[in-house]
Amino acid sequence: MDKIYNGIVTGYTHDGRGVVKDHHLAFIRGALKDETVEYSLTRTGKKFNQGKVTNVLTKSKNRTVPPCPYINECGGCHVQHMNDIEERDFKKEAVFNTLRRHIKNIKVNDTVELDELYYYRNKTVFAVREQHGNVVIGQFHKNGKDVVDIEHCLIQKRSHNEIIKALRNLIVKHNISIYNEDAHKGFLRHLIIRSNYDDSDIQVIFVTNGKEYSFKPLVNELVKDERITSVVQNIHTEKTNLVTSFDSVVRYGNEFIEDELLSRKFKVKDLSFYQVNHEITEKMYNEAIERAELKETDVVIDAYSGIGTIGQLLSEKVKEVIGIEVVESAVDDAKDNAKLNGIKNASYVLGKAEDKIKEIVKEKTINTLFIDPPRKGADKVFLDTILEVEPERIIYISCNPATLGRDLKVLSEKYNVGTVTPYNMFSKTYHVECVVSLSKK
Ligand SMILES: C[S@@+](CC[C@H](N)C(=O)[O-])C[C@H]1O[C@@H](n2cnc3c(N)ncnc32)[C@H](O)[C@@H]1O
Repeated sequence: MDKIYNGIVTGYTHDGRGVVKDHHLAFIRGALKDETVEYSLTRTGKKFNQGKVTNVLTKSKNRTVPPCPYINECGGCHVQHMNDIEERDFKKEAVFNTLRRHIKNIKVNDTVELDELYYYRNKTVFAVREQHGNVVIGQFHKNGKDVVDIEHCLIQKRSHNEIIKALRNLIVKHNISIYNEDAHKGFLRHLIIRSNYDDSDIQVIFVTNGKEYSFKPLVNELVKDERITSVVQNIHTEKTNLVTSFDSVVRYGNEFIEDELLSRKFKVKDLSFYQVNHEITEKMYNEAIERAELKETDVVIDAYSGIGTIGQLLSEKVKEVIGIEVVESAVDDAKDNAKLNGIKNASYVLGKAEDKIKEIVKEKTINTLFIDPPRKGADKVFLDTILEVEPERIIYISCNPATLGRDLKVLSEKYNVGTVTPYNMFSKTYHVECVVSLSKK
């Protein structure tokens, strides 16, 4: 039997594990701050150990029983054992602890969250496999390659659960061949569902190991559900753990779903980036735009602009918006969305933000810069260019506090860093989104 230790939990790691320092430094999955717990070690290391709770000796008043029946197998959620108060405070503390390593006097607001912390995801990505002769659809097991068969996921929108249920029956009924990862054989690899805010547009994406449209009879039955306005086949024949390829074919209805965000409409295609929690995204973008204190004469860069959301939400307040985005289809979408919204003062440049910003600032004086990069953060060349041209104000939106801290440190050479607001965009997981504004020193 594994050795059992006990200790008092003094805080959290960035991914929601309880920190215990009594016998050694250990990060314990499932332990809450201020609890005394018994735990066994799952991994030992030179600097720290990892473990899991075997018994809670003194329980936190903020401990709650995870409502999800798959919690012990599925790797999707990490903090269902925290009640809403604890989750909110953990995220604030995690952001603060990460950022203060880079910015000494950083201030962090309370985490902004919704009343409803479940049923929020407008994008479901589930693997499809055959295990013990059964078709299983769900998330990968937290400790391996098996897929956990999930009939009802508490963080996906309810409509998505309904459609996955229908798909499960249709896949069996139509005897669809299922992908086998080890043999790299079989047909259906993943199912992706995306929806707009009121489910009037839902897209179903079949990721397949092959280009044949053999599942047309299934699709004909599926689209009897009138909420489904788009079916796409993503043809993905490579042996890789990337979920999708760049090769998509529309099999039914539109190429996109159309969503409304604040006052604007946005067409979202199968592979485009789009925030997964509609309601909190509106709150977050509102704060980001307010913090910019925009003026009619401002020229704004929307760096990492995706399908154009941020720039188009603020375009009526300013003289001009220039978006920079590296994915060509996203640039096309942003241009289409500007037309859809009747916006004439927004243009989009295809290329890397770090390259294109240098060309733009040779021709224009930029007052305000929005930065919303992927998890790896902004490129150093991009940050150096900002330090050369010194726009008055920068608004940074980030889904990764670690790279946000690194980038803020670079910018703090010439900018005062404002108070950071964490947004609980991905509730019940440890992930968090942040907004911060910077003003010239
Ligand atoms: C977090 S998303 C933000 C998209 C958009 N601002 C939104 O809120 O919907 C990051 C975007 O940056 C793009 N991207 C990644 N690396 C880039 C780079 N070096 N230069 C420009 N865009 C990049 C990605 O394609 C993606 O659309």
